Amino acid sequence: MDGNGRWAKARGLPRTMGHRRGVEALRATVRAVGEMGIKVLTLFAFSSENWRRPREEVGELMSLLKLFIRRDLAELHREGVRVRIIGARDNLQPDILNLLEEAEALTAANQGTVLVIAFNYGSRDEIARAARRIAERVAAGELSAATIDADVLDAHMDTAGLPEPDVIIRTSGEQRLSNFLLWQAAYTELVFVPCLWPDFDRDALESALADYAARNRRFGGVSQEIAS
Ligand code: FPP
Repeated sequence: MDGNGRWAKARGLPRTMGHRRGVEALRATVRAVGEMGIKVLTLFAFSSENWRRPREEVGELMSLLKLFIRRDLAELHREGVRVRIIGARDNLQPDILNLLEEAEALTAANQGTVLVIAFNYGSRDEIARAARRIAERVAAGELSAATIDADVLDAHMDTAGLPEPDVIIRTSGEQRLSNFLLWQAAYTELVFVPCLWPDFDRDALESALADYAARNRRFGGVSQEIAS
């Protein structure tokens, strides 16, 4: 969800206003994704590197997350959305952690869209935490080092049990992954769109998905036409 700061700057507004408008775009996107029958939507809401931002901006992002959960959780639950959080949990304020865990617990049995919120998330950190847990299990004799393969690693990621993303859409014209789902995105299609996140809407989503749908995915094999 990139470009909130630039959206605000272009209007002579403080960056925080960009983040507030970003939450509106987020709500509209969650709604559109549900209506389109998309099974999983992952939003990169706060990275493990975002702590480097000015204190007031970090505070605003924390407040927006709290507000979003307090205001929107009941409706998400009614619509059958299952909330899942990925990211490190050990250095979060207790009130934020409680809210995130409450959202997961309340919606755990829902069967609709899975809304994954990447909060305090960094892919390298996730991989390192998974490696640490595996090492602990080997040390405890629960796991043999010889059996560690990609599936074992997968099962120790924050995203365990979720499908790999088919497509990652990055807004604002930047063309990089910025420590997002590096492990999971091995065969993901990447779509980069120029629009700034607060301007992202259903039309922008549909156009990004049309771009994705035109791709030929081979997963390391050969395309159907060549194979036949
Ligand atoms: C990137 O834009 C955006 C973020 C770092 C925060 C995204 C967060 C929200 C939209 C709201 C909070 C989340 C929830 C789940 C309610 P940027 O600030 O890097 O923009 P810039 O690159 O133009 O400066």
